[in-house]
Amino acid sequence: MLTPNRNFSRIQKNYLFVNVEKKIESYRARHPEKKIISLGIGDVTLPLGEVVIDAFHRAVEMQAHKETFRGYQDESGIRTFRSVIAGDYASRGIPMKEEDVFISSGAADDLGNILLLFDDDISALVMTPAYPAYVDANLMDGREIIYIEANERNGFLPFPEADTEGDIIYLCSPNNPTGAAYDRNGLRRWVEHANNNGSIIIFDAAYEAYITDPDIPHSIYEIEGARDCAIEIRSFSKSAGFTGMRLGYTVIPHELARGGFHLNSMYARARSTRSNGVSLILQEAGKALYTLEGQEYIRSSVSYYKENGRIMMETLDVFGFDYVGGRNAPYIWLKCPKGFESWEFFDLMLEKLQIVGTPGVGFGPNGEGYFRLSTFGDHEDVKEAMARMRAFF
Ligand code: MLT
Repeated sequence: MLTPNRNFSRIQKNYLFVNVEKKIESYRARHPEKKIISLGIGDVTLPLGEVVIDAFHRAVEMQAHKETFRGYQDESGIRTFRSVIAGDYASRGIPMKEEDVFISSGAADDLGNILLLFDDDISALVMTPAYPAYVDANLMDGREIIYIEANERNGFLPFPEADTEGDIIYLCSPNNPTGAAYDRNGLRRWVEHANNNGSIIIFDAAYEAYITDPDIPHSIYEIEGARDCAIEIRSFSKSAGFTGMRLGYTVIPHELARGGFHLNSMYARARSTRSNGVSLILQEAGKALYTLEGQEYIRSSVSYYKENGRIMMETLDVFGFDYVGGRNAPYIWLKCPKGFESWEFFDLMLEKLQIVGTPGVGFGPNGEGYFRLSTFGDHEDVKEAMARMRAFF
């Protein structure tokens, strides 16, 4: 008899954000007159910029004419786009080949797809709290998860000990959900550990555009030795507002190898069988982000959301709330006041203030007692949410 993947019994029935959405729906059904402000899921609120929309129009027009129409493309991404990204790394002093870059349909997708490169009987080291997709994707494959605690004592930035295990190591910096970010020395310790142990780091750099402090690396490849142990996964969702578009990329340096297998060639091989690539129109729009106008668009979107963060932190400071993040990341990781548990505080914020955040415990057991606020709201909504908090607290 056919056996479905029994590993599904190891994951929670619903994904975190589905549970949050259910609570919102239930509240909305009971109080249709109330305005709910979402500072929950990290979804952007600004519309796409002109530079992106123009690029979409041009790409659609290209597909409308026999002379310029194009069909199937390289499943790892069109060469012009990959080379622009490689050039962007090079301009930051990180040599990168076009072949090292794989265009993806977003970081969330590739965080799962990349696991195809690894056996199921190895382990994954994941911080707790962490973006839940790391754990879920590995549990679905049947891998063992090893947790390392990110907590107040280590500033939410744990470091490996000599005996820290984990074949695959997940690092997200700036971090979702805590907003904490590793400096150069911190990342160096992880890179050395991975190289000493033969582990592979999966470096989730989805939030690098939010880095303010100069000592925080934007890419793991700023660290010597990282090309021998790290895969970097990036996204245009939070920098360019592409949450609905679905576009990102994954970097696998061609020299990265384990057990005689080159991970770059393996991934290229996997893509050629399992995918026909990302929409050409989307990739053309992605390319436009690397023009001067595109870079300016990213800068202005990021500063819009960073300004939200500033307003939010100002309010939290007034009331002496205990939090981290917000400075180099679009997330603020708040300690629930008065010993509230995460879901209790979620209910309080929703029922009393109609503000939605994300319960910290949804990011793993170590997130209990915390609450995450996202800075991706609309300015006016953020101001209103903070006014509601001021009045209540
Ligand atoms: C989050 O809120 O944690 C993120 O928006 C989730 C994601 O990027 O998929």
